Amino acid sequence: DDARLVDSFGRVATDLRVSLTDRCNLRCTYCMPAEGLDWMPRGEMLSDAELARVIRIAVVLLGVTNVRFTGGEPTLRKGLEAIIAKTAALEPRPRISMTTNAIGLATRARHLKDAGLDRINVSLDTLVPDRFTALTRRDRLDDVLEGLAAARDAGLTPVKVNAVLVRGRNDDEAAQLLRYCLEHKYELRFIEQMPLDAQHGWNRADMVTAQEILTALRAEFDLTPSPVPRGAAPAERWQVNGGEGEVGVIASVTRPFCGDCDRTRLTADGQLRSCLFSQTETDLRAPMRGGAADEEIADLWRGAMWAKLAGHTINEAGFAQPLRPMSAIGG
Ligand code: GTP
Ligand code: 5AD
Ligand code: SF4
Repeated sequence: DDARLVDSFGRVATDLRVSLTDRCNLRCTYCMPAEGLDWMPRGEMLSDAELARVIRIAVVLLGVTNVRFTGGEPTLRKGLEAIIAKTAALEPRPRISMTTNAIGLATRARHLKDAGLDRINVSLDTLVPDRFTALTRRDRLDDVLEGLAAARDAGLTPVKVNAVLVRGRNDDEAAQLLRYCLEHKYELRFIEQMPLDAQHGWNRADMVTAQEILTALRAEFDLTPSPVPRGAAPAERWQVNGGEGEVGVIASVTRPFCGDCDRTRLTADGQLRSCLFSQTETDLRAPMRGGAADEEIADLWRGAMWAKLAGHTINEAGFAQPLRPMSAIGG
């Protein structure tokens, strides 16, 4: 009997992504409408104690070795440092990462590192101030760039940068973004846009593909496949100019990587998702509030993951977006 999170295809989930809030301080056009969304009521969100318990069960009983905090924007969660510290105190200590827009990290990066955060991934789609303001509907580019540098200087490394290219807005910026990231020692990855926006406005023809991105980069850089084994990582990596640095492409749509998936997800209101694109969720909050024992929670989790499907079906007829948008799942 395997105590771990095994699915019926033989994959083992060792990577837990925890959404700490569905709220965000940006309003990226490919993610949510200008007015924001109907945010999750506070009472429906897991408390800090409930979160700590779920994460402990994942690490101690289910063999999770990597914990990533996401959102919405995870830095908006009060007590983030304490949640990280509790996670870092677990035995065996998981590796701890966070996906963030980096706003506020200029003053917070050091505290997060001290609490036990190992590394961060930062969303940054453009270096042109007017474009940033148009894409995110907020004038915060300087905050993001300062946050990025502070994170690197605090040792939250490797600092990875996630860029989504949007046709007609920033799709001419691939090489410029790479030059910036090489210079500042960030690992850049380009992400194909997935159908996860709250407005349900995604369409395939608008998506900037991995193929297009690589062609644009090759006009200015020499790219060779990275010698680093990919494992379950979403990013395919390339060495730039024979070792100046690396660049990644996360081609979720045109080159799916579901066969090697090692991820399990928890939403801020305590629902398990076996896949980013799951149509069903498994509620952990009600059993926890109803007095379930740790081993019962662990069993619910094992059952949820056993039922994980082979992969997403974005490329198949009849694909339907999940009920929750990206901002409430955590990517
Ligand atoms: P590391 O490479 O380990 O740092 O993490 P990551 O790339 O998984 O994390 P991040 O949160 O930065 O995600 C980058 C992009 O990959 C986002 O657009 C995610 O939605 C996407 N991504 C992450 N995990 C999955 C996954 O399981 N499936 C798919 N299709 N996309 C994913
Ligand atoms: N498709 C792909 N990536 C997305 N992100 C947000 N929405 C989408 C989408 N629809 C990116 C963010 C962030 C990461 C977690 O996912 O820019 O960097
Ligand atoms: Fe895993 Fe689902 Fe992502 Fe595929 S789409 S890699 S199965 S979480």
